[in-house]
Amino acid sequence: MISPRAFALFAVFGAGVARATLQRPFASPLDVSWDELREKVDGRLYAGSPWAKPCFDDPESDACREIRLNYRDEASRASSSGAYINTQWETCQSTREQCLLDYTNPRDKSAISSPYSCSLGSVSDYYIDVREPKDVTAAFEFSKRTHIPVIVKNSGHDYKGRSSAPRSLGLWTRNLKNMTYNPKFVPKGCDKASAGVTLGAGVAWGEAYEFAEENNITVVGGSDKTVGAVGGWLQGGGHGALSNTMGMGVDRVLEFEVVTPDGQLRTANACQNEDLFFALRGGGGGTFGVVTSATILASPQVTLQTIIVAFPRNDKRARQLFTVMVDNGLAWAAAGWGGLANAQAAIYVNPVLNKEEAAESMKPLIELGERLKREGGEPVQVVVREFGSWGGFFHAFAGEYVAAVGASLALSSRLIPKDNFVQAEDRKALVDAFVAADSSTPGLIVLISPPTSYKGDTGRTSVTEAWRNSIYHITVISPWNWNATTVEKSEHYARASASIDHLRRLTPDAAYVNEADVYEANHEIAFWGSNYPELLKIKQKYDPDHLLDCWQCVGWKPESKRFACYLPQNVSITSV
Ligand SMILES: Cc1cc2nc3c(=O)[nH]c(=O)nc-3n(C[C@H](O)[C@H](O)[C@H](O)COP(=O)(O)OP(=O)(O)OC[C@H]3O[C@@H](n4cnc5c(N)ncnc54)[C@H](O)[C@@H]3O)c2cc1C
Ligand SMILES: *[C@@H]1O[C@H](CO)[C@@H](O)[C@H](O)[C@H]1NC(C)=O
Ligand SMILES: *[C@@H]1O[C@H](CO)[C@@H](O)[C@H](O)[C@H]1NC(C)=O
Ligand SMILES: *[C@@H]1O[C@H](CO)[C@@H](O)[C@H](O)[C@H]1NC(C)=O
Ligand SMILES: *[C@@H]1O[C@H](CO)[C@@H](O)[C@H](O)[C@H]1NC(C)=O
Repeated sequence: MISPRAFALFAVFGAGVARATLQRPFASPLDVSWDELREKVDGRLYAGSPWAKPCFDDPESDACREIRLNYRDEASRASSSGAYINTQWETCQSTREQCLLDYTNPRDKSAISSPYSCSLGSVSDYYIDVREPKDVTAAFEFSKRTHIPVIVKNSGHDYKGRSSAPRSLGLWTRNLKNMTYNPKFVPKGCDKASAGVTLGAGVAWGEAYEFAEENNITVVGGSDKTVGAVGGWLQGGGHGALSNTMGMGVDRVLEFEVVTPDGQLRTANACQNEDLFFALRGGGGGTFGVVTSATILASPQVTLQTIIVAFPRNDKRARQLFTVMVDNGLAWAAAGWGGLANAQAAIYVNPVLNKEEAAESMKPLIELGERLKREGGEPVQVVVREFGSWGGFFHAFAGEYVAAVGASLALSSRLIPKDNFVQAEDRKALVDAFVAADSSTPGLIVLISPPTSYKGDTGRTSVTEAWRNSIYHITVISPWNWNATTVEKSEHYARASASIDHLRRLTPDAAYVNEADVYEANHEIAFWGSNYPELLKIKQKYDPDHLLDCWQCVGWKPESKRFACYLPQNVSITSV
């Protein structure tokens, strides 16, 4: 139906795929005892392999046919150990080693023909299919002894390549699927009970939403079905259409079970290991430990008022939509509206207003939709509907929609504070910036998901405090295909960055760590604000040997060999 995150157009599959041979042997074992590690994890250690490898081995095989069919399907990618949602993170960008198909046409034989062959790229040499905390303990011991980097991979959705690294040992958490609902959950060592859902580290939001429906409760998650519920999403912040009123992921987490780099399984909550609890509430995934499960707050079922206005892309209409949104930005945030929008659709949801109040509050948007309809031209859709639950809404609008993935892309983002919405001239400047950004990199998304009117008292979180005072989180992207040159890739990163500069110029230094420019300048402040010094101390306390590390993560070591596949930043494009 409506697919705001989609940017890829589906091409008709061509025919005929030539056979290609591997030019480089796979997973050549390093000079270490993998067998010993395999024994410690009950045999669940496997050689890593890029997802598309069967198509290079035998393009006529059933395995290859499956991959071609599902090349742009995020559910297939998210559940495969060797696949990533944004495909440059499967490759080694600096050496051009890759194992990709043409995402506009997965049957295109040129992607699997000379000079292209299948290389491991950034896919781990070996990975553990994690089922128990002791698997993580064994991996940390192994990494400390051999200096082979460990990485944590859950869904592989990361936009910044933090769930892959060349010549690494992967911890694949996707099969930790337990879900339990406890109406009277008491965090260990605490005494206050609240309704909680305990989720294994591999549970995806789509699965958690279905479980919530079965139990007649609400959990607050993101807009995408296959993003992990308690992996990187939660540990970096976690926003969704209900966050305005019900809080971010980090506001709602009650407890983590986490294996720290010393190999210990720890419980982190408001009553024990409080420093670690603080760090895991926004300090970022892959940094302080490996979370095996987390318990999040379950709220009673909500009734949702929803408004959707959608139309085929058209510059004039886009400006009108952005103008109505921005002019009403403060009022709608205060009234409890969340949602997402782009230049051709806005989806608003509200869990606190009734039907009449919602219609009154959204009058300017509904009137815009009706006016555009009367003006004629390409069809305009205006939907006003009540849903009995988040799950019902998600199923109708987002659940069936699976993001088109399989390209490589550069993303960049900005948090937009209340201040930009107060004066008419600032609102106009903001709309101009949206239009300018969306025309340099088509696909700008307005996430109406900061916790602006969230009143809950949940203790301290470590995301930048800018989240609390923002009305929007804005993202732009610049995608490329399998055959882009290194210079072209570099230009895409620069283009996404220059596009968001339209907003950087108007706003304080704040961005969402999970959906940020790979080359965010001043990233410590942008992601964590005043929390950074404390986060750094906690990192040093729990990970003194630096067994965990990731790109622009707390306390990262940019010179680490695990970052060898990133391209050096190129800022040569200053205007786009
Ligand atoms: C299509 C799409 C839609 C998105 N929608 C939203 C949205 O609505 N709201 C939002 O807030 N974000 C959204 N995101 C961004 C999302 O939060 C990030 O991509 C996030 O990194 C995904 O976490 P993951 O665990 O699923 O992915 P992964 O790529 O597997 O992991 C991401 C990071 O977390 C670490 N990690 C994963 N699991 C663990 C663990 N158990 N313990 C410790 N570290 C771990 C990894 O090492 C890596 O650093 C979206 C992304 C995409 C691609
Ligand atoms: C998953 O849940 C089952 C039953 O509730 C329990 O026996 C098992 O130990 C759990 N596994 C993990 C890894 O938590
Ligand atoms: C579901 O929860 C709502 C809100 O708490 C309640 O009013 C309703 O009776 C519940 N429905 C069922 C079937 O339990
Ligand atoms: C990549 O392939 C497409 C067609 O498949 C072609 O139009 C384009 O020029 C190619 N780009 C490069 C850099 O080779
Ligand atoms: C960055 O841009 C400069 C100047 O345009 C160019 O010389 C250089 O090769 C580029 N670097 C990369 C990594 O593409």
